[in-house]
Amino acid sequence: MLIDTYGRVAKDLRVSLTDRCNLRCTYCMPEEGLRWLAKPDLLTDDEIVRLIDIAVTALGIEEVRFTGGEPLLRPGLVGIVERAAALRPRPLISLTTNGIGLKRTASALKAAGLDRVNVSLDTLRADVFKTLTRRDRHKDVIEGLVAAREAGLTPVKVNSVLMPGLNEDEAPDLLAWAVEHDYELRLIEQMPLDAQHGWKRDGMITAGNILASLRTRFALTAEGEEIRGSAPAARWLVDGGPHRVGVIASVTRPFCSACDRTRLTADGQVRTCLFAREETDLRAALRAGAPDEEVARIWRLAMWGKKAGAGLDDPAFVQPDRPMSAIGG
Ligand code: 5AD
Ligand code: SF4
Repeated sequence: MLIDTYGRVAKDLRVSLTDRCNLRCTYCMPEEGLRWLAKPDLLTDDEIVRLIDIAVTALGIEEVRFTGGEPLLRPGLVGIVERAAALRPRPLISLTTNGIGLKRTASALKAAGLDRVNVSLDTLRADVFKTLTRRDRHKDVIEGLVAAREAGLTPVKVNSVLMPGLNEDEAPDLLAWAVEHDYELRLIEQMPLDAQHGWKRDGMITAGNILASLRTRFALTAEGEEIRGSAPAARWLVDGGPHRVGVIASVTRPFCSACDRTRLTADGQVRTCLFAREETDLRAALRAGAPDEEVARIWRLAMWGKKAGAGLDDPAFVQPDRPMSAIGG
């Protein structure tokens, strides 16, 4: 098991497959992109599968989520999914993507064993999308979403981050659209993970703002905490159901005490938290020839050092050096 000093047990492994991306979301990356990881520093497909194997057989991981950057940019993705799905016990396998490549890959990914996708889409307006992501790809994302639903990668979840002055008024429109197309919308508070370190708490669109905005058009009924479990999204039934909407209040209502995650960066570092300032190098152990049991021991030790919380509300909070794109959502 992966357990920490607060008794939390990690069952959910997030694997970043690349730090690159074909969008430049303002809350994540600067216009010119970042200095990408060099190829020799990236874990190989074999190394990734070996680490997932160790995670499911020795460490009790039950769900594997592939992230990025943009994971669809990883050439070996379909093969990695296929090999992860062949592991026993078989983990649940999901993917967090910006959706651009899904039209082309959704059915191959489903056939390889992918169970579900989360697609990031912050706006229904093509012009706002272009401002927000600095790329004119709105249509590709919409087509990717349709492809994911048709391939059966369901429930298809849509993640939206609301930002003042850009899309802050869009929550009700996004929800009406999600209900119509059978996607599960999750609205996310913007977190201090931008490469430019420009995040400000003032003016941030909070979960409270989001709920008030949704309630101008929908009747929302809270689901109980027992259903939420370790899921970060608090969920509401929309107009009596069956559709739901999630709100992820990472900043104003952190869910650290129920966190069940462990993260692996594309260069093989374990992170116990998005906001951690420490990392543990598994790649070095792999490349030094460590046996599985030794790798598992190092991973357990990293988990043991997991902090109680992200500390966003602590005046001493310091943003991690790596931006979101190099950690994985
Ligand atoms: N705050 C909140 N969410 C973010 N994401 C990326 N950067 C941030 C941030 N600073 C989201 C993306 C995607 C997921 C990987 O994380 O929109 O849905
Ligand atoms: Fe790419 Fe996701 Fe970052 Fe946007 S938030 S630039 S889609 S990695």
